[in-house]
Amino acid sequence: MNAVIRKPSDSEVRALGVLVESMPDAFTPQGRRFLVWDAERHDVLVAELHGAVRGFIVWVSCATEIEILWLAVDRSFRRRGIATALVDEVVESAGSQRVVISKTAYPEQLPCRTELTQQNFRGTIAFFEKMGFNVAARAPDYWGCGNSVVFLVKRIWHGHE
Ligand SMILES: CC(C)(COP(=O)(O)OP(=O)(O)OC[C@H]1O[C@@H](n2cnc3c(N)ncnc32)[C@H](O)[C@@H]1OP(=O)(O)O)[C@@H](O)C(=O)NCCC(=O)NCCS
Repeated sequence: MNAVIRKPSDSEVRALGVLVESMPDAFTPQGRRFLVWDAERHDVLVAELHGAVRGFIVWVSCATEIEILWLAVDRSFRRRGIATALVDEVVESAGSQRVVISKTAYPEQLPCRTELTQQNFRGTIAFFEKMGFNVAARAPDYWGCGNSVVFLVKRIWHGHE
C-alpha cells in the first residue's frame, strides 16, 4: 500500500460526499448527509493513491478518548491496507489517550427499508477486530428504532497496545 495519508483541502472535504454516494450498502442517504457536516468540523485524513482520494477517516478527540466517526475506502481500492494506514495514523495520534472507539451497525439487525447489508458490516467488524478492536457493547435502537449499534473499542496503555 503506497497511498499518501494527508490532510485534505476544503474542496476535497466537500467532495467526500461523492465517494460515499457509491456505498449504499454502508451508509444511508440520511447518514451520508451528515458526512460533510462532520468532516468540516472535526479532524480528517485522506488517503491519496494514483492521483485521487481513495479513502478517508473523520474523528473527534477529547482528553481520554478518540472516536472514529467516519471511515470509508473506495470499493475498487479495498483490501490494499488503506483503512489500516488511516486507522494506524489516528491511533498513533491518540498518544496517552486511553480509548479509541468506533460505532457501527449490527450486521444481524439492520434498519429496514435501507440498502445496508450484513455483508458490509460483517466486513467492517472483521476489519476493526484485525486492527485490535474488540466488541465492547451493543446498544439496540441507539440511532433510532431498529438502528442498533456495536461499540468497537481499542484500549491504549502508555501510547502502545
Ligand atoms: C471497512 C473498510 C474501511 C476497510 O477498508 P480496507 O482499506 O479494505 O481495509 P484494509 O485493506 O486495511 O484491511 C485490513 C484487514 O482487515 C480485514 N478486512 C478488511 N475488510 C474486510 C472484509 N470485508 N471482510 C473480512 N475482513 C476484512 C482483513 O484482515 C484485511 O487484511 P487482508 O486484506 O490482508 O486480509 C472498507 O471495507 C469500507 O470502506 N467499508 C464500507 C464503509 C464502512 O463500513 N465503514 C465503516 C463504518 S464506521
